[in-house]
Amino acid sequence: MRAEELREKLAAPLQLRNGMRLPSRAVMAPMEGLMNSPRFFRAVQALGLAEFWMTPFLGLSKNAVPTPAALRRKYKGYLAENIPFFLQYLGHDPEAAAEGVLHAAQAGIRGVNFNFACPSRTVLKSGSGGAVLLDPSLVEKILLAARKAVPEMCISVKMRIGVRSFSECASLLSAMKNADVDLVICHARTVEENYSPLPEEEKRKRMSFAAEKAGKIPFFGNGDIRDEKTAALYMESGCDGVAVARGLLQDPWILRRLRGEESPPPEAARKRFLEEFGKLLSGKQGAGTFAECVKLAYGEDSPQFRTCLEAFRGNRRSPANT
Ligand SMILES: Cc1cc2nc3c(=O)[nH]c(=O)nc-3n(C[C@H](O)[C@H](O)[C@H](O)COP(=O)(O)O)c2cc1C
Repeated sequence: MRAEELREKLAAPLQLRNGMRLPSRAVMAPMEGLMNSPRFFRAVQALGLAEFWMTPFLGLSKNAVPTPAALRRKYKGYLAENIPFFLQYLGHDPEAAAEGVLHAAQAGIRGVNFNFACPSRTVLKSGSGGAVLLDPSLVEKILLAARKAVPEMCISVKMRIGVRSFSECASLLSAMKNADVDLVICHARTVEENYSPLPEEEKRKRMSFAAEKAGKIPFFGNGDIRDEKTAALYMESGCDGVAVARGLLQDPWILRRLRGEESPPPEAARKRFLEEFGKLLSGKQGAGTFAECVKLAYGEDSPQFRTCLEAFRGNRRSPANT
């Protein structure tokens, strides 16, 4: 795909149900532990790095459905500034899903996302995240219950391409079509693969298969997108957009770069973002989130991460100077 064509496709907005509009098709994928930090949010907003957010997951179970007031409080940053976002729920109970969507609507939230992707052992044991994909009929029940509770809600799904095999996505996407889902974001790995390396050609094969099965549902690809070349692979496979998580810490300007907007070189971009984030730091919790960012941006074995850990433990040097 020509660079210009890629940029044009990714820069195009996407209008969804309930007035939910993605300003572009290069979006940020959620990262629990980082994106729920108000400092991370402020740093990203200050530099204009993302136009759209999906929150990290919020647990949802029969006896623990967050109230509308709690949701309003938790997401006041997005709501007050009218920033388009999906509230992501993690659970496996259809009744709780219905109540969760109802409460989201009462809190003034336009879009809800269901996490059928998380490969963490604890989450899988509880029957949520990627475990829901074991049963396409449960996927359909959850989504139909949510759809019925608030028919106008914009409902999206974040999924792994299957649990054991990518071919499982056929019946899963069929269940999502039956529930009239508005958007699917699909990570190219299976749940069992967790984060193990996946050859480019395998990604292309899988995503072409899945994009075709998604039919008319807008279908975004996710997994290892680091630059224009890796984003192009997904778009050439028939995806309507891309979602980036870890790549954002290696090049915080990546979404803007993918849309063809002016952006500093990746190394300078990373430094500037971490400086901005560093300025917002106070307290151990902020420094912990910052350390997570440095780990994702430079790697666990990097001198940058080591310096950051030292600063975190002994305050030898301010993390902002890392
Ligand atoms: C630290 C971390 C936290 C994550 N938290 C979430 C989450 O809360 N919800 C979710 O759907 N995915 C979560 N993910 C998965 C990412 O959104 C994404 O699907 C995955 O990392 C693959 O994309 P990437 O290669 O661009 O990172 C998380 C990933 C990481 C590394």
